[in-house]
Amino acid sequence: MRQAGGLVCGIVGVAGSIGERLGSALKKCLERLEYRGYDSAGIAVTGTGGITVRKGKGKINEVDARFNFTALDGLSGIGHTRWATHGKPSDENAHPHVDCTGEVAVVHNGIIANYRELKEQLMARGHRFISDTDTEVIAHLFEDYVKAGLPALVALRETIRRLKGSYAIALLYSHEPDKVFFARNVSPLVIGVGEGFNFLASDIPAFLNYTNRVITLHDGEYGYLTPSGIYVERNGEPVNVEDRVRVINWSPESAGKEGYPHFMLKEIHEQPRALRETWAGLDMDYVSKLGKAIAEARRVFITASGTSYHAGLILDYLLVSLAGLDAHAFNSSEYRKYIKLVKEGDILIAISQSGETIDTLMATRVFRERGAKVLAVSNVVDSTIPRESDYQLYTNAGPEIGVAATKTFTTQLMILTALAANAALHSGGMGKEAYSLVLNELEQAPDLVNTTIINVEARVRHIAGKLAVKTNAYYLSRGIGLPIAMEGALKMKEVAYVHAEAYPAGESKHGPIALVNQEFPVVFTVTDDDYLDPLEGNVMEMTARGAYTIGILPSRHYAKLGKVFTEVIQTPDASPYLLTIIQSIPLQLLAYHTAVLRGYDPDKPRNLAKTVTVE
Ligand code: G6P
Repeated sequence: MRQAGGLVCGIVGVAGSIGERLGSALKKCLERLEYRGYDSAGIAVTGTGGITVRKGKGKINEVDARFNFTALDGLSGIGHTRWATHGKPSDENAHPHVDCTGEVAVVHNGIIANYRELKEQLMARGHRFISDTDTEVIAHLFEDYVKAGLPALVALRETIRRLKGSYAIALLYSHEPDKVFFARNVSPLVIGVGEGFNFLASDIPAFLNYTNRVITLHDGEYGYLTPSGIYVERNGEPVNVEDRVRVINWSPESAGKEGYPHFMLKEIHEQPRALRETWAGLDMDYVSKLGKAIAEARRVFITASGTSYHAGLILDYLLVSLAGLDAHAFNSSEYRKYIKLVKEGDILIAISQSGETIDTLMATRVFRERGAKVLAVSNVVDSTIPRESDYQLYTNAGPEIGVAATKTFTTQLMILTALAANAALHSGGMGKEAYSLVLNELEQAPDLVNTTIINVEARVRHIAGKLAVKTNAYYLSRGIGLPIAMEGALKMKEVAYVHAEAYPAGESKHGPIALVNQEFPVVFTVTDDDYLDPLEGNVMEMTARGAYTIGILPSRHYAKLGKVFTEVIQTPDASPYLLTIIQSIPLQLLAYHTAVLRGYDPDKPRNLAKTVTVE
């Protein structure tokens, strides 16, 4: 099983008395952070009787139903809501983690890059580990230092000195039960300043019901909270944080979206980060092993539903046209057609952001029974489809809350393009140099997507104003741009309820064009350089019927095609492999802004569910 590196998860900590049981307050705080992860949850409190830990796999409410968080109380406490990266979701891997003595409990968000090395050293010194997580080393390191006689704060400083990677940590030590120790490097951590209590959290909404006075901690800072004080150090020197207190005027609800009006917009905007994390989490040796297996497979099947299916179509396009392989993509609900074709030596690539879509799961099971190997591509570590598959590749987009998939789609494209290029390298469809160029380009994706968001949003909003009063639209393209047009149309349908239909541009003459009249919107994605002239012809055909044409095109084609459309959305230049990702951005934004202008809530489209578990 491959584990992607990543950093989401939510942590909280509280010291002092807040007029309710600490367990109840911590649970409420965690619920406000559930958007950061929800596969496991846990709480620890400490008082005069030592540390009590309650934790398990499942959503906060499910874990609470088993362990009754609300009954816990003490002088201070910590909590965690998890999004698995190292170690599958399980009771053992849920945070908080404790040391050998049970006198230390820790919650962590981030990745301890050198945890294997530290774990080996600690085990050699007799420490016993219970979980597969990177986090547990923190509790044992701290234990070692306090056992050696160091004061707790110095032990914390020495502990973090040993850590490489990213972390926001909250830690309880039973000998100093009124304190919550903390440290920050890269992963976010904020303090909530109260009267007679103080909070700590990954994000402000966690404690906004208790206090709106906030201090943002900086990298390298560590210290502790008590009911009446906050002590911060960096490299052994005290840091004065009093003048860093800010008063926040957001509602807890809007703060959960980091100030964005909807999760969909937040998730569109966080794609640079999601892509960066996905790239960082991709083990290229493993990709190469899979690429070879795909190139050597008798036949390659690709299955998925909804947005994931469109990512599957891109993979199909690349495996056929670039790698020269015998690949077939199909909607997972239609898997029965292929049953007789499946034989040993085949590979099925099952793509599902949730890892739970029932149709994709059924296809996975049937294909496996018939001897095919299955590679699952998912955003949720250890979800059902990856668990039942032979190989797993994970996008590292973090939890997606908006029902319409956005960041999980572009991160799927990133992984699948790398995989297809590798298969092409093994099949002889692509040389080493060209392969390196694709990888270099994919590495640029986060920056180019960032530029795209900045450059296109105002223009897209203007066009959304026109689309908001329409009832129909076509999305046309050719070649590798077609699945992207299909995804754009799906987004528009899903959130803005505009009937949008995608078609191969060349096919549009065979039917769809009958509907086109004055001001009929037609969106073109100009992706594939091989098709520029015929595509221009298709635009002209639409223009001749009075259509309102919108061209999404890379800047290098502006001179040739800039004038043929009614509206142009220009994106940065890139090869078609990367343009699929880049062009998805204006299409997502177009659907989002059209939905909002039409007065709909894009986060909760009617009749749709994020994860469909019925056939
Ligand atoms: C539902 C969601 C879509 C998603 C599809 C497949 O229809 O509303 O956004 O693309 O399921 O989900 P999966 O988790 O398998 O990728």
